[in-house]
Amino acid sequence: MTAQPPTNNNVVWHHATVTRQRREQQNGHRSAILWFTGLSGAGKSTLAHAVEEALHQRGCRTFVLDGDNVRHGLCKDLGFSTADRIENIRRVGEIAKLFMESGIIVLTAFISPFRADRERVRNMVEHGEFIEIYCDTPLEICEARDTKGLYEKARAGQIPEFTGISSPYETPENPELAVNTGTDELDACVRRVIDEMTRRGIISKG
Ligand code: ADX
Repeated sequence: MTAQPPTNNNVVWHHATVTRQRREQQNGHRSAILWFTGLSGAGKSTLAHAVEEALHQRGCRTFVLDGDNVRHGLCKDLGFSTADRIENIRRVGEIAKLFMESGIIVLTAFISPFRADRERVRNMVEHGEFIEIYCDTPLEICEARDTKGLYEKARAGQIPEFTGISSPYETPENPELAVNTGTDELDACVRRVIDEMTRRGIISKG
């Protein structure tokens, strides 16, 4: 394979006749990106899947993109250096946007530690379509839980650049929602997300 410089000069956007608007009409809800961010073990995936369950039961069309899963496929060539994390979030952002165009409510669960990367995804879509949800579980609780045993390894120096230990996590400054996933019951956190979506007119009441 000959390496080619990236170029879009000869690529022309094709407009679908089945538009996002028509898909949304058919679905009976708007599409959006629910972007869950927080430390490893903060409860992002648990909350994202619980919210998806609640939305699915209401008849919404949804999909969860999860860090640990996406890193087995689409992003399996990436590690945890700053450059790789930036690329990870860039790819996920593009995929999330495509899912959103397909009329789906897409829920993403990635540490996404850098503010600039989250903002880049936010700016890829229209205002109000990117809902940043900060899973605000303090490091002490994530570390005490240590469900995957990774914090212990990180403290022992066996995992380099581990978020919260030897790699930074930039707390969201103005998230649409911050949930206390460390202390509040899962059901209460789910309700807060659903209420916020209703308030924003993504889904209707009931
Ligand atoms: S991100 O920083 O690029 O957004 P992502 O959410 O995809 O990270 O993956 C995080 C998951 O990878 C963690 O929940 C953890 O299970 C695992 N992991 C392995 N090594 C690291 C590391 N150095 N830092 C953080 N998480 C890691």
